[in-house]
Amino acid sequence: MRANLIIGAYTIVALLAACSGASTPSNPSNLSNPSKPIASGEIWPDDRGEHINAHGGGVMAYEGTYYWYGEHKADTTSSAYVGVTCYSSLNLTDWKYEGVALSVVDEPGHDIERGCVLERPKVIYCPTTKKFVMWFHLELKGQGYAQARYGVAVSDTPTGPFTFLRSGRVNPGLYPLGMTEKDVAAVEAIPAKSVEKWWTPTWYDAIDRGLFVVRDAKAHSDGRHDLPAGQMARDQTVYVDTDGRAYHIFASEDNLTLHIAELTPDFTAHTGRYVRVAPAGHNEAPALFRRGNTYWMITSGCTGWAPNEARMFSAPSIWGPWTQHPNPCRGPKAELTFMGQSTYILPVAGKEDAFIFMADIWRPRHPSDARYIWLPITFENDVPVVEWRDRWTLDFFD
Ligand code: GAL
Repeated sequence: MRANLIIGAYTIVALLAACSGASTPSNPSNLSNPSKPIASGEIWPDDRGEHINAHGGGVMAYEGTYYWYGEHKADTTSSAYVGVTCYSSLNLTDWKYEGVALSVVDEPGHDIERGCVLERPKVIYCPTTKKFVMWFHLELKGQGYAQARYGVAVSDTPTGPFTFLRSGRVNPGLYPLGMTEKDVAAVEAIPAKSVEKWWTPTWYDAIDRGLFVVRDAKAHSDGRHDLPAGQMARDQTVYVDTDGRAYHIFASEDNLTLHIAELTPDFTAHTGRYVRVAPAGHNEAPALFRRGNTYWMITSGCTGWAPNEARMFSAPSIWGPWTQHPNPCRGPKAELTFMGQSTYILPVAGKEDAFIFMADIWRPRHPSDARYIWLPITFENDVPVVEWRDRWTLDFFD
């Protein structure tokens, strides 16, 4: 089962290396220093002695090395003045700075112009094209969070430089799986007055039925919500399933509802197939993993940089149905996700049922000083638990 969690190309390369007796590390799980502690919330120095600057990020295993990608944060602003940084490691505790994988640009009006908002980057490897594909949340410079776009970039090497492809809204003009013309007509017929007020039972029901998916084009002349333009996409992650298909998971519909959208075989676009998860649930910061035949997703509520209580969902298929579970966190400040917010769940390569919950402790007044939470996931009656540990080592998984 573990092998299934490793991306296809990595498995092939690992096997080839094993067969050829290659001496280069073929499996990042050959952790060279498993007893080095992971201390969440503390300063994590890289090989230069500088605190790792890769926030809202994710980790990819490729050819025996882990690559950590994240937002470079400046000292006084959360806007992107550098881009997406990359660090590499053989053991998940010693990190080498690999530089800027995707750089913001100085051209005025460019989608990723310096000073834009570029958040929650994640990279996946596409064995079909042999390219590394980066997805992120993008807000155009000077427009706050109004644009709610995805961004996508590609590279021939894990450390980049990545080439920016485009940004946009998701699945323009398309309705989620299972939504029929009849459903659309019924939602369009909901009297606008009856749903003017949010959080009423009528409003909940309308959101559940797709009010914001359908209505958008009509309700807003400012173009913020425009069905032909596509669905909003903010906090996000990407996930490659055991069959090699990839999915983009993001907060949509004004952060009210998560969407899970299938990606094309080259991982750089959406196929048009998507589902909605927990309508009006206000979930963001999605992090997803699979154990056996169960998909698990940990999210946060929507309180900006301030921490809140983590949520957890499971499903027998990526398409759902998704069922909500209690907060998986345990220990001091568990009701505030230990003062952090989920960003990724990292399967430790080569180890059975070994997953690391990754979260960010944001410092909005001093963004570069934001800290990381990495905690092992344990299972109680097959349900994930994330327990606080001041210090733990990777031999926890042995
Ligand atoms: C959070 C989100 C972060 C960032 C922040 C801005 O809710 O998870 O990625 O967008 O809001 O306030």
